[in-house]
Amino acid sequence: TDRILVSPSVLASDFGRLDEEITRAASAGADVIHLDVMDGHFVPNISFGPPVIKSIRKASGMLFDTHLMISEPMRYAKAFADAGSDHLTFHLECPEPTGDVIAAIREAGCTVGISLKPATPAEEIFPWLDRIDLVLVMTVEPGFGGQSFMADQMAKCAAIKREILRRGLHVQLEADGGIDAETVKTVAAHGANMIVAGTSVFRHRAGIETAVAELHAATA
Ligand code: DX5
Ligand code: ZN
Repeated sequence: TDRILVSPSVLASDFGRLDEEITRAASAGADVIHLDVMDGHFVPNISFGPPVIKSIRKASGMLFDTHLMISEPMRYAKAFADAGSDHLTFHLECPEPTGDVIAAIREAGCTVGISLKPATPAEEIFPWLDRIDLVLVMTVEPGFGGQSFMADQMAKCAAIKREILRRGLHVQLEADGGIDAETVKTVAAHGANMIVAGTSVFRHRAGIETAVAELHAATA
């Protein structure tokens, strides 16, 4: 298998030292930075929005993978793109029409991902696979960092991977939630080529550098 891409979620970092935390993750070999946006409506938690992303954009040249856990991604796509996001992932479960959200994100100049909550079946993403760059399978209920990995999402992960391969598409498969140096092995074995890790990276006892190295090593 290919080398897995590690996307640390700054949700678990020290917000008072965001620049330093992101710089450390980058020098540790993180491939992408994951930015969890929550609106207190689509999920029962509020995190940060475009101004914070704009500010960290100045300090980092990394690829910004922005995860929009919000009810109105179409309304805010341009704001998140202008703030410096490279990629925008929205939720299939949000009330806006999927095709329109995809178009709005493309129009804003970002690559497009769609995320599935744990209760959403694999098949619901199949009609959209040839129009997007990434599928994000949630391995926790979106809303909070630090939750336990849901191994029951692995069949879904594998089913989506099979469909991507069957149709010969170039779509990334990312998993998010409860991923550490142990659970990452399961995730990689079920076809994901990219993982999000918050707690296991930014709250690692031995430091961010060790944490990122362990995630890469576990799937080498
Ligand atoms: C959950 C977020 C995740 C979360 C991951 O709503 O989408 O990205 O921050 O955090 P950990 O790795 O702590 O589960
Ligand atoms: Zn996320």
